[in-house]
This record gives sequence, structure tokens and C-alpha cells, in this order.
Amino acid sequence: MCGIVGYVGSQQAAPLILEGLTRLEHRGYDSVGVAVLGAGGLRVAKQAGRVRDLELPKRFAGRVGIGHTRWATHGPANDTNAHPHVSADGAVAVVHNGIIDNAAALRAELVDAGVELTSDTDTETLAHLVARSEADSLEGKVREALAQVDGTYGVAVMHADFLDRIVVARNGSPLIIGVGEKEMHVASDLAALVRYTTTVAHLDDGEMATLTASGFTTYAVAGGQLGEKSKAVTTLDIDPDSYEAGEHSSYMHKEILEQPAATERVLRGRLDERFATAHLGGLNMDARETRAIRRVKILGCGSAYYVGQMGASMIEELARIPADAEAASEFRYRNPVIEPDTLYVAVSQSGETIDTLLAVQEIKRKGGRVIGLVNVVGSAVARECGSGIYLHAGPEVAVASTKALTNMYVGFALLALHLGRVRDLSISDGRRLIEGLNRLPSQIEEILKHEDALREVAGRLADAESLFFVGRVRGYPVAREGAQKFKEISYRHAEAYQTSELKHGPLALISPDVPTVAIVPDDELTDRNVGALHEIAARGGPLVVVTHPTVDLGELAATRVDVPANEVELDPILLTISLQILAYHAALKLGHDIDKPRNLAKSVTVE
Ligand code: AGP
Repeated sequence: MCGIVGYVGSQQAAPLILEGLTRLEHRGYDSVGVAVLGAGGLRVAKQAGRVRDLELPKRFAGRVGIGHTRWATHGPANDTNAHPHVSADGAVAVVHNGIIDNAAALRAELVDAGVELTSDTDTETLAHLVARSEADSLEGKVREALAQVDGTYGVAVMHADFLDRIVVARNGSPLIIGVGEKEMHVASDLAALVRYTTTVAHLDDGEMATLTASGFTTYAVAGGQLGEKSKAVTTLDIDPDSYEAGEHSSYMHKEILEQPAATERVLRGRLDERFATAHLGGLNMDARETRAIRRVKILGCGSAYYVGQMGASMIEELARIPADAEAASEFRYRNPVIEPDTLYVAVSQSGETIDTLLAVQEIKRKGGRVIGLVNVVGSAVARECGSGIYLHAGPEVAVASTKALTNMYVGFALLALHLGRVRDLSISDGRRLIEGLNRLPSQIEEILKHEDALREVAGRLADAESLFFVGRVRGYPVAREGAQKFKEISYRHAEAYQTSELKHGPLALISPDVPTVAIVPDDELTDRNVGALHEIAARGGPLVVVTHPTVDLGELAATRVDVPANEVELDPILLTISLQILAYHAALKLGHDIDKPRNLAKSVTVE
């Protein structure tokens, strides 16, 4: 959730860290802080608010530094709870992502030992534990402190007695080391590194590292001991400009507009016209293993879960394999039965969502086979799964996910096609799907051309305090995702329902003040859908119908939003894109911070 940046080298650390934190603000934006180590000793500046609000004191000099943007877990967002946290003797500074589960016990022990705690946070305990360790090295002190901690962390530590280094450690929260020219960087997200270096090493859970200007050393923490460990360094093929908003007023708008190019990328090289199938080399499954799959279970969180539902429906329709999606955040708590002939699919933009990662680990622990549909290359979920489909959406910065979700959908379509073609999906149906997939980028362009009309509709929806989003079967996850996007950035109450279920309760809420956005594709359910919408109109409920040009709404009093039709299996994603634009313009009209909605953060790395 929160963002960590660290630097050690020959330059002044603070400006570099602030720049990095600005690029990480999407990961948490309650409060901000920086600590530097220099001739003046350890100095800290921190406060509640955004990075741009942080004023550094004069002579805030040092060539070693760490910084943090916070998403509050323990204690409100205020100046004292902001990171870095400093030990009572002023020697140790710590920034931390994750949650220390036994913080209450540690806090009580520290108080008993006479330590005066200054914040409400779990992280502060770490600063005191490091300071109180009697180990000779900073690495030893950090190891001893972490040995007392239950929970998750990505942590960076500086100490006034060890002027040349930062020690970092990971357990469940990402940390990436960036290798520079006689300087080293560390960050919780590539976005903070790419301006300085694309040569990186991903720290794994259970690892620690020491960063000095001349390089880094990695250690495995095993049995309470530190053992040096070699670490692969890779140079990523990344364009730093892809992390910039450029001329766009927000990342979300930029990312919505990038969808035609993003879908072209996820399809590139994966469609096999000759055999009417999809080539998915990353699955590492031969035809015999693929045929043996009896069930598909998709796991993701939030919008990824809703796209997972869309994916399950495609897999079931096209491959005729029973498939469903489940919220990864709930999965492992119901002690799930893991079946050997089930293909588990973890879906995640960031690849760092802790609930999804823990679900993957639970499946693997019980001997299940799990693949990942992940956007961020080398992320924790991708590495834990070991095989899967990379989504190639490019960096997604806005908290509200758009292009990554679209590419998840296309990823599922490719998987459904691949599974279908080793089973009973005919070559003509395979070709039909491939043609449909190839049409997607231009059809998305077409939707984007109608942004002005959607802005006008969104303006009216933004005035409502409460809205329904409804759809049936393939349209229901579209409605769920539409409601999610709308509430996430407009802060309006937006509730998704199956159109067929309205009459069993929610119809009581319909009134002229409660608009309904209805998903009505041209499919076998169109007539029934339109019938149910008459029940809303009859009760004075304003209607926006997102539909296909061929659908006849008859006398229905509704604003219609027409979306180009593709094959029925692929229609949901085109319908979803128009809902993204509605949500975006509603939030814009309401004057909200589009990219940093209140209370949220880009990657949810705490349970
Ligand atoms: C999407 O708009 C949301 N911000 C959120 O629901 C997100 O999809 C969810 O947290 C999962 O994230 P992931 O794809 O990075 O795992």
C-alpha cells in the first residue's frame, strides 16, 4: 500500500527521494516523510498530506536517505504517525510497508522496558527494537528486530552509527533494488526507479540486503542466521516515459485512451490463425495436461475478481469446463478443497495484492496447479505462480484500474480459446473468436470517440447520491465492475444487481432520484432485460441503457449509450469501457482527485 524509496550514493538524497515518492504516491497518500544521514547526523522531516506539501528544513543534507508515502493502517494520518519512525535515542530511522501483527504485544513490552512511544503505529516498534539490539552490525540489529516481529513487511532502515548504508528486508511487501553508477536505489515500485535505472533485483520474502554506494549484498534469513546469497540482476526493457501522464490531466484518462494499443500488445504473437487457437507459451502445459483439466477456479480481488467472473463465463461457454471466480481475499479462510484436476488462475494487475498472493500460496501448499494473469513482470504473484500469461498493458498508475482490466479480459479470452481448442471448440468458432479479438482495438477506438456524449450522461449521473448498475449473466459482472469504478472515484453509492433480482427487493429503492445504469447487450436475454427495465421506468427511475445499436428499446423512457457489438463472448469488455468513461467524467464533474481517490491505494499489500 505505502511507498518506500531509498538512495545511497554521491548525490544529495532528499531531492531524489522526494522525486521518487511523487511517482509512488498512488500507493498511499495520507502522509509523507524523508530521513537523511549526513554530517549533521540523522535528520527527519515528515507530515500528514501529499509529497508536494512537505517542506524540508534548511541544511537537510545527506547522501544516504529513505522516504515513505503512507496509507494508514495503525492510527490516523497525522504528523506523528507519518514515517520514518525514529528510535528513542534518535539513532535509527525506519520506513515500513505491511502490518506487524503482534504490534500491541511489542508496544507493551517496550513500554514496560521504559521506552516512551510517540506514535500509534506498529512501525515505531521496529525502530526501537533495532536500536535496542546489541548486535555489532546494522544487519545483525535488523535481523534481531525482525525475529521478534510477526506479520508482513517491506522495510528500510538507517542508523547513525552506520553512515554508509541502508538495510532493507522483505516479507510480503515488495522491494526492488535499483543498481546505478556508484549509487544504489531501493523502492517498493518500479515507478520510482525507472528515471534512474532499469537494472534491478527483486528482493524475495525472507531476504535482507545491504545497500552501499558501491553495490549491494543479499542475505537469506534462515533459522535466525544471515547467510549471504547471490541475487540475479536484470535490465528491464522499459520506457521511463510510459510512467508519465504527459499532456493528460490524469493518469486514469491517459490509461483509458491507451486501451486500443494495450489490447494490441496482449494479442501480439498469440493468435494462431492456422489452427484457430491461441499460443500461450507461458502456461507450460502440454495438450494432455490441458485436456485433463476438469474445472477452472479464478481468484482475484476487487475489479480483478469481477473480470475473473467475466473470464469464468467465457471459459465455461467456449471450453465447456465448469469455471467460476472467487474473491481471493475470502478464499483461504474457508479452508478450500484443492482439487488436482482444477486449474487455478490468479489474476492481478500489480501482482502484489497480498490476498491474491496468499491464495496462490495456499493452493501451492496443498499441491494445486496455479497460473497467473499478471500485468507487472517479475511481481510476487507472477513469480509465485511461475507460469501464466503476462498482460502487457504497460504501467498502470491510476488507482482505478482500466487498461489492465481490459487486458485481463483479453487474457481470459485467449485462455478460453486455448482451452476450448484442445477440447470441443470447432475451428470455425475458433476463427470467429480470433476475428472478434482482432476487431477489439478498433472498436475500443470507436467507443473513445464518443467521450463527449458519455461526459454529458455522466454529468447527470453524478448528481445522484445513489445509483444501481444492473445486468444479467454476461452483463452482471459488467454491472459489478461499472458500479465499482463509479463508487471508487465519484464516492457515490453505486450498487450492482442482477436485473432479474431487482423485483425481489431492491425495486423498493427505485425513485426519480435513483438512476439505474442497465447493461443490455444484443443477446438471447435482450427481451427479458428490456421487460425488467420497464418495471424501473414505471416507478419513475431514470434509466441509462448501455446497449448495442441493433437493440430496439421500444417505448422505454431511457437515455441510450450505444456500443459497437463484437462476438457475444467478447461484448462484455466493450460495454465495460463505456462505464469507465462514465465513472471518470462523473468524478471529474464532482471535482475529485481522479488518480488518488480517498481511502484507497493502488496495490493492496496488507490483508
Ligand atoms: C480497481 O479499480 C481497484 N482499484 C481494485 O479493486 C483492484 O482491482 C484490486 O485491488 C486488485 O488489484 P490487483 O489487480 O493489483 O491485484
